[in-house]
Amino acid sequence: MSYCAGCFEPFVISSYLYIMNIQIVSIGLVGFLVILNSCQYNVDSMLYGTSDCPAIEATYQSHISGIIDSECAGCHSGNNPAAGLALTNYDQVVAAVSYSGLTHRIQLPLSDPDVMPPNGGLDACELDAILNWVESGSPY
Ligand code: HEC
Repeated sequence: MSYCAGCFEPFVISSYLYIMNIQIVSIGLVGFLVILNSCQYNVDSMLYGTSDCPAIEATYQSHISGIIDSECAGCHSGNNPAAGLALTNYDQVVAAVSYSGLTHRIQLPLSDPDVMPPNGGLDACELDAILNWVESGSPY
């Protein structure tokens, strides 16, 4: 019965193409997931302040005083600083790290009522800069 042998050929070819198609779609899907995943990874490292912050060796004068001035001194300065805690010079900031839990306060989640600054927290790279500065011995 060679009569119908050829009938199957288009069917065989089209099912082959169909399988190829599935492969192409799944390769595309895997690629898409990989890309999606790498975006997710980037967002995470921004949130937790690792690789996307500029690699700086922060000193008090070069970086930290600027951050404290703009993010903290609004409340922690003047005649009646918040919590009696002034943060307007190197010695005060170093003392607040040692005795007032400064690094603890700035790392709290935004939902925590004790987070500093209270109105939204530091951005990831400011936080990173302060923590690295403390870790490297708070250079002036
Ligand atoms: C909007 C005003 C405001 C800003 C801005 C602010 N703070 Fe505060 N801070 C307060 C108040 C009010 C308290 C006391 C209430 C409390 O303990 O949460 C306080 C308490 C603290 C304490 C605890 C002091 C203690 O002796 O218990 C630390 C440390 C602190 N702040 C650090 C910071 C730092 C660092 C920044 C900047 C990153 C900052 N704050 C920004 C208002 C502010």
